[in-house]
Amino acid sequence: MKLLFATSELYPLIKIGGLADVSNNLPVALKNRRQAVRVLLPAYQSVLVPLKEVKVIAKFDLNGYSVRLLETHLAPSRLTIWLVDCPELFNRPGSPYINAQGQDWPDNAQRFGLFCEVAAKVATDELGLNWLPELVHCNDWQTGLTPVYLNQRPASERPKTVFTIHNLAFQGLFSYDVFQALQLPSELWSSEALEYYGQLSFIKGGLVFADQITTVSPRYAEEITTAEFGYGLEGLLQARNDKLTGILNGIDNQQWNPQTDTNLVHNYSVDLLSGKIKNKRALQRDFGLLLNDKAMLIGVVSRLYKQKGIDLLLQNIAAISKHAIQLIILGTGDSKIEGELIEAAAAYPVTVAVQVGYDEQLAHQIVAGADVFAIPSRYEPCGLTQLYSLRYGTLPLVRNVGGLADTVVNSTTETIANNTANGFVFDEASPDALYESILHAASCFADKNLWQNLQSSAMKQDFSWGRSARNYLRLYQGLSKP
Ligand code: ADP
Ligand code: GLC
Repeated sequence: MKLLFATSELYPLIKIGGLADVSNNLPVALKNRRQAVRVLLPAYQSVLVPLKEVKVIAKFDLNGYSVRLLETHLAPSRLTIWLVDCPELFNRPGSPYINAQGQDWPDNAQRFGLFCEVAAKVATDELGLNWLPELVHCNDWQTGLTPVYLNQRPASERPKTVFTIHNLAFQGLFSYDVFQALQLPSELWSSEALEYYGQLSFIKGGLVFADQITTVSPRYAEEITTAEFGYGLEGLLQARNDKLTGILNGIDNQQWNPQTDTNLVHNYSVDLLSGKIKNKRALQRDFGLLLNDKAMLIGVVSRLYKQKGIDLLLQNIAAISKHAIQLIILGTGDSKIEGELIEAAAAYPVTVAVQVGYDEQLAHQIVAGADVFAIPSRYEPCGLTQLYSLRYGTLPLVRNVGGLADTVVNSTTETIANNTANGFVFDEASPDALYESILHAASCFADKNLWQNLQSSAMKQDFSWGRSARNYLRLYQGLSKP
């Protein structure tokens, strides 16, 4: 099949969170299954600057902007990337979404609106690329208007569309003035279309107009049809429930492999777990934690926002410091949470270590060196770090939501006996529930044999992209049948 994959993040060119990993791994997995995939991405400054090999494949004017389409290839997969180069909108320093003060770029609607319009033009070969996809796969609100623009063409003259929700909390909401400025057809200003309580909603473009909606785990697909997780869109998602499915994300088994990972102090495998502890000792030493093999080291690598439940951990620091439990956190995000974490590390220097920032290598080292990897999220559409941790024999301790619930099995007498246990799961989003789960993990950690059995079950699980890519392909093929 010819497939166009539209996304606002792509590892390793530009990454904020898991969307970037998925936007690389899924297209590569599809390419390996002999599908013709093109990934469409805005040409942000940080993407353009390091690129060596780029070719201009189209040049045109749109909404008063001059735009070019650039082609490059990712190594080592040779995946084809098409970059939407509109310097006025994308060639600026900093994050794709926010300015240096942490506020949304004021022209985000123009930026991603134009991106969606270009996606629709590419998808109908209006730019004369001589390539007509059978299906366009859109991701999150930044691509939400693509199905809207495509739906303005006759059904026979447009490809089918899939819209994937990676995070329903981000909806791309703008004022009515923006709706007018984008010159969207006036009949779309309705709660049946793009209006959301008096605002323009980009994500509704995807949810209302895509031929199929997917999200990144079966559990989250159910959750978002309820008021607790639906962010006001549960009614719409209930109404379109027959077009909504959950397909679990996978992981790149080569990039995340404890046997070959060049980021680690020591490589190790399920059969040679003894190397793992050297990674733990290196972390303890580098971050000034007490050098103690018997202390259970909890790792966290996360965007630091309310979603991730880091505050629940913060409220437990005094309590866990009374036990042989240590905590190492790498993350960046909300400056208030960052500040609180730095304070906690200063107050408990030998039990709590914090590094604020984004650091790919340290992320791997924490996933490898920690005993337990905590993800106390309030909601979690899929979550990738629990999957990385499982592969590294670092037992995930997670809240019972979304993709976490679909991938982590709490260690109980029963699940231990039938060898399905691979981590720790708690229900309520409260500091107490998290604390209890941490103590439960610590009691299992004290039993060396039990712990090794749990690690071995975790490491033998397969979350590589194969199965998920097959599911997507089956979905694409079903949709594109005449
Ligand atoms: P989300 O997309 O909600 O942030 P995921 O678990 O799907 O959550 O993906 C997060 C991705 O970002 C993972 O690949 C994780 O390793 C990475 N990551 C998050 N924070 C950092 C950081 N501070 N440094 C390095 N990698 C990070
Ligand atoms: C989002 C979600 C995360 C998911 C990722 C990739 O950022 O918060 O749970 O794993 O997208 O789908």
